[in-house]
Amino acid sequence: MVLEKHLASNITDTSKEELFAIGSKQNLLDSTNDYNVIVRDLINNELVIKMKDYIQHGNTTCYQHCVNVSYYSYIISKRLKLDYLSAARAGLLHDFFLYDWHNLNEKVPLFKMHGFTHPQKALDNAKKHFELNEKEEDIILKHMWPLTAKLPKYKESLIIILVDKVCCISEFFKEKKWFRLLFGLNYNPNDFIRKNKGETD
Ligand SMILES: [Fe+2]
Ligand SMILES: [Fe+2]
Repeated sequence: MVLEKHLASNITDTSKEELFAIGSKQNLLDSTNDYNVIVRDLINNELVIKMKDYIQHGNTTCYQHCVNVSYYSYIISKRLKLDYLSAARAGLLHDFFLYDWHNLNEKVPLFKMHGFTHPQKALDNAKKHFELNEKEEDIILKHMWPLTAKLPKYKESLIIILVDKVCCISEFFKEKKWFRLLFGLNYNPNDFIRKNKGETD
């Protein structure tokens, strides 16, 4: 039902821009890509794009981080025949808190620090601007588990919890040659484009 709704809207995408999840060569802005169909309204939304203004880990923006988490959660959920629509959409919004957490004065009680509070802020923002189902709400709210105590209710929530942590580690270490060699990462779209043009490092 949800997929039909997204398939019915904005089928034509003339964008020539490119967007890649870390380690992937799939252009997620390609309108023929199934993932693009599911998240097109979100990925092109100006508030979601605003996440590009904030750094999440290393030099990865919040937007790119959310794309990474969303895309791999979508792939895994689809393989496991789970609700990949909710995984993809909630993944894109799981860190939709819209502020620079590095600049916070964290002289606040432990449980009021960003790590504990941002899932609720992301959920509040997401509910304000988009229609979410119960599973998407659970995914966003519980994605920091076990830091936040409430247990995730759905398998898709567990997938996002794991993928978020793996993406976080990858984003921290992606500049390290040993890490790229270890995982065969061709994560950087610019590297990918350069190599396609026959240019080398
Ligand atoms: Fe988060
Ligand atoms: Fe995250």
